[in-house]
Amino acid sequence: MGTRLEGKVAVVTGGCSGIGLATVRRFAEEGATVVIGDLDDAAGERIAEEVGGAYVHCDVTDKEHVDALFGGAKDRFGSLDIAFNNAGISPPEDDSILDTDLEAWRKVQEVNLTSVYLCCKAALPHMIEQGKGSIINTASFVAVMGAATSQISYSASKGGVLSMSRELGVQFARQGVRVNALCPGPVNTPLLQELFAKDPERAARRLVHVPMGRFAEPEEMANAVLFLASDESSFITANTFLVDGGISGAYVTPL
Ligand SMILES: NC(=O)c1ccc[n+]([C@@H]2O[C@H](COP(=O)([O-])OP(=O)(O)OC[C@H]3O[C@@H](n4cnc5c(N)ncnc54)[C@H](O)[C@@H]3O)[C@@H](O)[C@H]2O)c1
Repeated sequence: MGTRLEGKVAVVTGGCSGIGLATVRRFAEEGATVVIGDLDDAAGERIAEEVGGAYVHCDVTDKEHVDALFGGAKDRFGSLDIAFNNAGISPPEDDSILDTDLEAWRKVQEVNLTSVYLCCKAALPHMIEQGKGSIINTASFVAVMGAATSQISYSASKGGVLSMSRELGVQFARQGVRVNALCPGPVNTPLLQELFAKDPERAARRLVHVPMGRFAEPEEMANAVLFLASDESSFITANTFLVDGGISGAYVTPL
């Protein structure tokens, strides 16, 4: 048990699986009170009990749900210090622009991008009032690099998350609120496993571009989020925080 987030209240969306779940556990280990917002009620209640936090059923595309998640965390626990806006989807219907219809496009924009707008809009007034806070929005390395294995709406949504985070980080820097975009490389989570289970060739094709030659584990993302959430990163804001095993720095990778 550490103390790096002692006394802080954190909201984590998408905290029932993958990167969000690993982060909920890491935050709690470091002394934070964690409020999870997700759709998976059974897992949410169990995880909240495990970490001594709270679970709120929240569809991150629904403004009322999101406002209740952040407002409720502040009312119940007295402050809102950290927002990890992380829920996201990567459905197979989102593919090449030539094959992706408007409905699939819109669904991904809603869950991945509009949700981050709603979460930041809900969290910021509390943090501004306190004069402090750390917001971490989950973008992706595909926000800064192009892929021939396209998921067009996903990539566009993550580009939006990255620019929104940068802009908010700049706008609120003098009010004590830091906003950063976490840009993970491929992480070994259900989201990625689902995508690659149906297409192992696609997985192998991606691994070639990772200098480290493997996908990340969710705990490796959680450690990066912990750093951005804690006061250790006090001079870091509006940042494109790439945690990608070297992908974005690579031209030719080791054999
Ligand atoms: N896994 C990767 O390789 C990878 C890489 C880069 C970025 N990301 C991003 O990281 C984030 C987390 O991904 P993950 O791999 O941990 O995913 P995951 O599928 O393991 O977990 C996502 C969680 O979000 C929840 N969720 C989905 N839709 C929701 C909604 N409308 N409202 C509330 N909760 C909802 C799910 O129930 C689930 O608990 C996503 O934003 C994803 O785009 C993932």
